[in-house]
Amino acid sequence: MTDQVKSRIALLGTGLMGRPMAEKLLAAGYPVTAYNRTREKALPLVEHGAVVVDHPHQAIEAGECVLVMLADEPAIRETLLERRSRSSLRGRSVIQMGTIGPAQSQALQAEVFANGGDYLEAPVLGSIAEIRAGELIVMVGGEPEQYDRWREMLTIFDPNPRLVGNVGKAAALKLALNHLIGSLTTSFSLSLAIVIEEEIPVDIFMGILRGSALHAPTFDKKLPRMLERDYRAPTFPGRLLLKDLKLVQAEARALGLATGALDGVRQIMERAIEMGFGDDDYSAVYDAVHPA
Ligand SMILES: NC(=O)c1ccc[n+]([C@@H]2O[C@H](COP(=O)([O-])OP(=O)(O)OC[C@H]3O[C@@H](n4cnc5c(N)ncnc54)[C@H](OP(=O)(O)O)[C@@H]3O)[C@@H](O)[C@H]2O)c1
Repeated sequence: MTDQVKSRIALLGTGLMGRPMAEKLLAAGYPVTAYNRTREKALPLVEHGAVVVDHPHQAIEAGECVLVMLADEPAIRETLLERRSRSSLRGRSVIQMGTIGPAQSQALQAEVFANGGDYLEAPVLGSIAEIRAGELIVMVGGEPEQYDRWREMLTIFDPNPRLVGNVGKAAALKLALNHLIGSLTTSFSLSLAIVIEEEIPVDIFMGILRGSALHAPTFDKKLPRMLERDYRAPTFPGRLLLKDLKLVQAEARALGLATGALDGVRQIMERAIEMGFGDDDYSAVYDAVHPA
């Protein structure tokens, strides 16, 4: 690939992540053909130069590289492995960038290979703001040659995409990291709730926390939402974090690890969703820990 000739990209999924990713690719000169189940959500990309199609196979046929940014494994199967999509995969490189389990990713790899395509995984840490800033963390699972082939394109999202290992390794690493999103946020919620119920000034709590080894930057990011109990305009909705916690739980159990703490985190996340926060920011776990 040279600077003059950019690979044609098919993008499946223009949700919260896929849409800004498409904008980034288009701004860098990559031709993008986008498909989204709910077509209206993809249409704003036309203004940025994308072609929007009605069926996933039309996008796949138009692309050399198929970027997959869909909610979960069932969504990927319904889109990438739908009958006409399958028969369009020959000669295409599929890069799966959503959060799924390692075994799910390996099963997709086998099916894409069986249909004559190439497959690597590149799950990401970071959200919409990081996409816009070009500061996502991209973790690649695949062979070194696949990584070399697509590295330049991936630097649009992360100046230093990391090759983690074979397909499945980056998916597993992503689960290990997302476990921390759930566990840190629920732990912080309980500590904050204790402080508030004990009528201790939050500033004193945060001042001590920030100066200690216990602080994580995510606490400061989520504190305003929790204090206001305002979880609208999510960048990462609770329903997706619950999906990830279930994947982490299954993986940890399969590895024979103790999941008691994680089981509790999952229960709290489920409670937040029962309370109606599934489409809101995942920091709504605070309301499940400390009901208003
Ligand atoms: N948001 C984040 O901060 C973040 C960060 C890192 C990784 N991720 C991961 O990246 C992936 C995408 O996340 P997102 O935030 O962009 O999610 P999102 O906004 O919910 O978008 C999900 C996408 O999947 C499609 N979809 C869902 N179910 C489908 C089905 N059954 N058939 C066909 N398409 C279906 C949606 O189509 P419709 O528009 O028609 O519903 C949409 O295009 C997820 O795996 C997520 O866990 C997200």
